[in-house]
Amino acid sequence: MVPKHSESIIIVGAGCFGISTAYHLLQRGYTNVTVLDRSEKLPAPDAASTDINKIVRTSYSDVFYTQLARDAIQEWNKSDEWGDCYRGSGVLVIGGADDDDSEQPYSSKAYANDVAAGVRTLRFSSRDAAVRAAVFPPDVQIGPWLERASGYVNLDSGWALAARGVEKLMARVLALGGRVIGGKAVTGLVREDGTTTTTTTTTGVRLADGSSMSARLVVIASGSWTASTFRELDLCGNCLSTGQTVATIQLTPDEATRYKDVPVVLDFYTNFYIFPPNDDNVVKLALHGPGVAHYTTGDTDKQPVSTPRTISSHGEDGLRVPRSAVRRLRSSLRDVYPELAEKPFATTRLCWYTDSPDSDWTIGYYPPDSGLLLATSGSGHAYKARKILGFLPVIGRIVADAIEGTLDPAIAQKFAVDRKHTTLDLLRGTLKPVDLATEQLCTPEDLIP
Ligand SMILES: Cc1cc2nc3c(=O)[nH]c(=O)nc-3n(C[C@H](O)[C@H](O)[C@H](O)COP(=O)(O)OP(=O)(O)OC[C@H]3O[C@@H](n4cnc5c(N)ncnc54)[C@H](O)[C@@H]3O)c2cc1C
Ligand SMILES: *[C@@H]1O[C@H](CO)[C@@H](O)[C@H](O)[C@H]1NC(C)=O
Ligand SMILES: *[C@@H]1O[C@H](CO)[C@@H](O)[C@H](O)[C@H]1NC(C)=O
Repeated sequence: MVPKHSESIIIVGAGCFGISTAYHLLQRGYTNVTVLDRSEKLPAPDAASTDINKIVRTSYSDVFYTQLARDAIQEWNKSDEWGDCYRGSGVLVIGGADDDDSEQPYSSKAYANDVAAGVRTLRFSSRDAAVRAAVFPPDVQIGPWLERASGYVNLDSGWALAARGVEKLMARVLALGGRVIGGKAVTGLVREDGTTTTTTTTTGVRLADGSSMSARLVVIASGSWTASTFRELDLCGNCLSTGQTVATIQLTPDEATRYKDVPVVLDFYTNFYIFPPNDDNVVKLALHGPGVAHYTTGDTDKQPVSTPRTISSHGEDGLRVPRSAVRRLRSSLRDVYPELAEKPFATTRLCWYTDSPDSDWTIGYYPPDSGLLLATSGSGHAYKARKILGFLPVIGRIVADAIEGTLDPAIAQKFAVDRKHTTLDLLRGTLKPVDLATEQLCTPEDLIP
């Protein structure tokens, strides 16, 4: 049963998934839409969506995502709505095997999909001086990396100011009469007849202060906190939280001027990626891989569930990343931009992915409960990496279609909560995240070259 436009909908989590869903529901005429977030400050400082920048790209090996990303970029590109949130720097994609067909590099399939979708691309193989000249400003020093690389530049992709994008959409949610309330941590679901069995219908949420709120539909969009907050839903197999290493470098104004026109570099051989400098001359670089898991047991059961360890839960200590990851970042940086590798890392952060085994999103009702829908598993995990933030303008459309039951059946099945994970994501299938070891986290000395 689809909710009526006047019925109340509560969305748990004001990140990319939650805010985009609220926006699209309000656009469709739903009038009682409330987004709850546990963070007093919004966007939440430790949300995956709250970041200086994220890649927005059409280059996926699965054509569904290529097409949706194309829609998203067209939306991002509307400067009257998004201001300068979107930067069409281009994205240079190289290497990477795909799990569906390990013979064919991920970038080849992604390239074919991009070309079919009419995306402007520039293909190159190693030592291709022409591409280098076309893509990198002449006074940017490129390391040995590009000589080994082959891949392509997607000229119609780029990056977005992530936190600012969420803020902008949040403002539009409020303008449309939606409510976004911070400082409201949801601790569980309220079910009809007060039971806790997952075969009954959800009728609301319980809050940390002991109160509850009722709703015709609860949409869980709590990102990497989903499996640990709603343990009774047994979502570890769908929504595994893994911590990923991010660092920044502060450039001087001179350096920033030199690097400002480089593309995003996304290397599927090493899982290293790096952005052009932002408006504050900050360069973000990161590793994209199995990451680390942080297992904790809840009060109610003994089964450990990976739970984000962040600045909000652990203060400054929650920003430290594994020392080994800092070393890998440094050596990749040396390979790509040797000049920048001589600078200290200004900040680090563990940012938490929500991974599903097949890297597809989880968007759908929690069967047989018609009062509960999940909208999560951004899955940044591996080569497939159907990262969500880039889809901010359009992801809520998919969730709203799922709520209304109008998704194409094949797509609904692709995202179903109870789907079988037939094609395992390569990294997820073979490499598991290692347990986060606090004694191996970086110290300030590790950030100096
Ligand atoms: C290092 C890193 C790099 C990434 N790079 C990219 C990229 O380049 N491009 C891209 O498109 N994507 C990228 N992603 C993925 C992208 O950030 C995520 O897919 C996306 O932000 C997930 O959005 P979300 O709404 O699911 O989660 P979040 O943004 O984390 O939002 C969840 C919200 O729920 C709230 N919440 C949690 N628990 C509760 C509770 N119990 N009650 C109430 N509220 C609660 C949190 O406070 C938070 O605000 C990256 C992710 C990481 C970690
Ligand atoms: C919206 O829904 C809430 C229940 O979540 C209810 O208390 C409130 O009265 C509703 N508001 C309107 C305007 O219908
Ligand atoms: C973005 O918009 C500009 C014009 O405003 C246009 O020239 C450009 O092709 C657009 N880019 C994409 C990727 O749609």
